[in-house]
Amino acid sequence: MSLLAFLLTVQLVLSSKAASFQLGRQASVVTDGLDLPANSKLWAQYSPWYPAQEYAALPDGCALKQVNIIQRHGARFPTSGASKRIQSAVAKLQGVDNYTDPALDFLKTFQYDLGTDDLVALGAAQSNEAGATSFERYSALVNESSLPFVRASGSTRVEDSARNWTAGFGEASGNVYVPKLSLIIDESLNDTLDDSMCTNAGNSDAQTDQWLSVFAPNITSRLNAAAPGANLTDTDTYNLMSLCPFETVAKEQVSEFCGLFSDEEWSGFQYMGDLDKYYGTGYGQELGPVQGVGYINELLARLTGEPVQDQTQTNRTLDSDPATFPLNRGIYADFSHDNEMIPIYSAMGLFKQAAPLDPTDPDPSRTWLATHLVPFSARMAVEKVGCEGKEYVRVLVNDAVQPLEFCGGDENGLCELGAFVESQAYARNNGDGDWEKCFD
Ligand SMILES: *[C@@H]1O[C@H](CO)[C@@H](O)[C@H](O)[C@H]1NC(C)=O
Ligand SMILES: *[C@@H]1O[C@H](CO)[C@@H](O)[C@H](O)[C@H]1NC(C)=O
Ligand SMILES: *[C@@H]1O[C@H](CO)[C@@H](O)[C@H](O)[C@H]1NC(C)=O
Ligand SMILES: *[C@@H]1O[C@H](CO)[C@@H](O)[C@H](O)[C@H]1NC(C)=O
Ligand SMILES: *[C@@H]1O[C@H](CO)[C@@H](O)[C@H](O)[C@H]1NC(C)=O
Ligand SMILES: *[C@@H]1O[C@H](CO)[C@@H](O)[C@H](O)[C@H]1NC(C)=O
Ligand SMILES: *[C@@H]1O[C@H](CO)[C@@H](O)[C@H](O)[C@H]1NC(C)=O
Repeated sequence: MSLLAFLLTVQLVLSSKAASFQLGRQASVVTDGLDLPANSKLWAQYSPWYPAQEYAALPDGCALKQVNIIQRHGARFPTSGASKRIQSAVAKLQGVDNYTDPALDFLKTFQYDLGTDDLVALGAAQSNEAGATSFERYSALVNESSLPFVRASGSTRVEDSARNWTAGFGEASGNVYVPKLSLIIDESLNDTLDDSMCTNAGNSDAQTDQWLSVFAPNITSRLNAAAPGANLTDTDTYNLMSLCPFETVAKEQVSEFCGLFSDEEWSGFQYMGDLDKYYGTGYGQELGPVQGVGYINELLARLTGEPVQDQTQTNRTLDSDPATFPLNRGIYADFSHDNEMIPIYSAMGLFKQAAPLDPTDPDPSRTWLATHLVPFSARMAVEKVGCEGKEYVRVLVNDAVQPLEFCGGDENGLCELGAFVESQAYARNNGDGDWEKCFD
């Protein structure tokens, strides 16, 4: 399908929805047009993208030299496993003849009709818009002989996000610079854009189960009282809550499930996501951060213009070939998953918490918020910057400048390139022995 045909399709699909959606270039138009409820910022990894902060210009006297973007796929349907669990919970509610609370009456005619796994139109549009924003922000780094080098982990929604991003980038340039998706990396092989290689890594079930048993029982009781005989479990409650974001992003209209829960209850839902990411592949998982080492070593190669040095997830064949791992571009864009971006943040040292997340007692001042780390279309940009003859690094996550305290970041979040490279010892040491623990 041509770009124009694609854009027309998006316009048609979107204009047929009740929500007044516009395909615009400003970062927040898409979600603003949707008129999302305030609790959408508590949907954790299922929040549609919004900037965590406004993008800050570089200080005077500094100019961009390179940018490395890694981006999560856009908003998607539930995975097939989640879809089954959601439908089972909905069926329990719909098996009840008479609700005692009219808030549930919509269920009498409700029909579950979402797809599985793939990108939804909003997710495609937000990826397209991210491409346009990247062109506007980084056009000084592109020319005919240096188009963005784009890679995607080999899963349909990730590849579709990458292609929508390249289309948005090309369109914003007036079709002068139209990058291609240059490389798709098989997820069953060595892949720095997916978290599937470390076979001994654990999961977050213990911690999320603990929190579920704290925050969900009152909600479950309330729903069971409103739907006598439904016999919902706490897990059903979580799955019903997740239907709010999934239906909303799929239909571009606020789901009726969203209104069934209070803001305090959404805060509980959010913490499920925070714990899931922290203990799944983040700092709370012994073999979490090591799964970000391969990408960090690729990043260091690009920043320094030196060959990749890595003994973890990289594919040495791909990374030693300039056709599949060039070092002469101004813009690199990689497309990935939330569960891989979390170990990348953690291997680098971003979002370190003073104490591990407590599975029964959220710290309201924590900065580990899944909605700021890995919403749909989440993105990290590592900018290489020149200021008065010296080279620096600045890191933005969802447009929020990171303090980089681990390499002496200044008030503008700038670290000297050498200090940044120095600070990445965990990656440069191939995870200090953690990678081997993935397999013994
Ligand atoms: C549900 O309500 C209807 C109408 O009030 C009533 O006829 C029926 O007996 C009720 N069913 C149950 C299971 O309570
Ligand atoms: C954008 O994503 C959609 C899936 O939502 C896909 O059908 C379409 O081909 C993608 N666009 C491009 C330009 O690849
Ligand atoms: C590495 O990449 C090459 C080239 O795409 C591929 O043939 C090979 O199977 C990959 N090997 C691993 C272990 O990922
Ligand atoms: C659940 O309800 C009980 C009784 O009203 C209350 O004491 C408790 O604080 C509630 N728990 C939560 C997590 O809201
Ligand atoms: C719910 O549980 C009650 C008590 O255990 C049982 O009598 C009833 O059949 C159950 N209802 C459903 C729909 O499973
Ligand atoms: C793939 O990764 C494994 C584990 O680090 C490594 O032993 C192997 O050499 C890698 N294969 C390639 C082609 O890079
Ligand atoms: C094109 O961009 C690359 C990367 O930023 C740069 O190294 C190169 O000098 C540029 N070429 C021209 C002709 O401007």
